[in-house]
Amino acid sequence: MAEQSGLTIRKMLLEDVPAIYEIEQKAFPSGSWNLDAFYHELEKNEFAHYFTMLQDNKVIGYLGMWIVIDQAQITTVAIDEAMRGKGYGKLLLEYVMNYARLTCEMMSLEVREENLTARRLYESFGFTYGGVRRDYYGPNQDAKVMWVKLK
Ligand SMILES: CC(C)(COP(=O)(O)OP(=O)(O)OC[C@H]1O[C@@H](n2cnc3c(N)ncnc32)[C@H](O)[C@@H]1OP(=O)(O)O)[C@@H](O)C(=O)NCCC(=O)NCCS
Repeated sequence: MAEQSGLTIRKMLLEDVPAIYEIEQKAFPSGSWNLDAFYHELEKNEFAHYFTMLQDNKVIGYLGMWIVIDQAQITTVAIDEAMRGKGYGKLLLEYVMNYARLTCEMMSLEVREENLTARRLYESFGFTYGGVRRDYYGPNQDAKVMWVKLK
């Protein structure tokens, strides 16, 4: 757990899910996860590592990742719309990269080509482009794969 001036990052709890789902719906209007997807990840997926960011005990962001052997893959990340552009995404990603670095050699993720904010964030942590997954988000909606060495 990381804590500084009211800001906390900790493992995601089942009770966080409704607040996270609200953020998720606004963050990904064209295709958000449903509530059950989060519950499934927390309760059933042994490879899942999910984190919640709180400011003064209010959920303001989250990040999910799968760790399989020495590979980490980010599955979802978002910061509450009202709290964006203040450095929280950077803090959350830094925290999770340090967590993954303990056991993983590399981290990867998918991002929409047009999501320049997220791409800049990842680039600032050394992520580079590793290919394209065609129609990943739906017909004619490709994903760019980005990855970084953690060690
Ligand atoms: C992507 C996201 C998590 C970033 O979180 P954030 O708290 O807003 O980001 P930060 O304030 O920590 O900024 C981190 C970096 O992102 C980039 N960034 C932030 N806001 C930006 C903007 N409006 N335009 C362009 N780049 C921006 C910058 O590189 C910034 O670093 P800098 O301040 O040193 O220049 C957030 O915008 C979000 O939740 N977006 C919707 C969901 C989403 O797209 N998730 C990613 C899916 S792959």
